[in-house]
Amino acid sequence: MTDKIDAFVAELQEQIFAETREAFGEAGFERWRNPLYRGPLADADAHARVKGECGDTMEIFLKFDNDRVCDAAFRTDGCGSSTVCGSFAAEMALGKTPDEITDITGEAILEKIGRFPEDDQHCAFLAAATVQEALGQYMKKTLQKH
Ligand code: FES
Repeated sequence: MTDKIDAFVAELQEQIFAETREAFGEAGFERWRNPLYRGPLADADAHARVKGECGDTMEIFLKFDNDRVCDAAFRTDGCGSSTVCGSFAAEMALGKTPDEITDITGEAILEKIGRFPEDDQHCAFLAAATVQEALGQYMKKTLQKH
């Protein structure tokens, strides 16, 4: 009996993996299985939290050193797609100056992932909007210091 259930679960998992690989491509699938750059980041210089129209929340944490992002993380209560987008958005912010961060758009995130389900593309735009909001927080702080 247990063997049958184990086999059933294994088959189901294989099926889910195959479908996810098909939907996200190899890079997105790997990130879905192992979402790098998960937050929070305790000592972040900037933190933004944006709620998408779907009701999910995305958070981005940025830490700067010499006006470049030296650490970045994301957190979301959304679906697998938003996890993949948040993870890539945080990765794309790493090493960037504020000016370069403005290039992190929804389109740029989707391009970086390579393949993405049409219906979930708004997750990339939510992740990008959150990165831009975090950048805004950082710029505000920086201007207040001067
Ligand atoms: Fe809401 Fe992805 S962010 S479905």
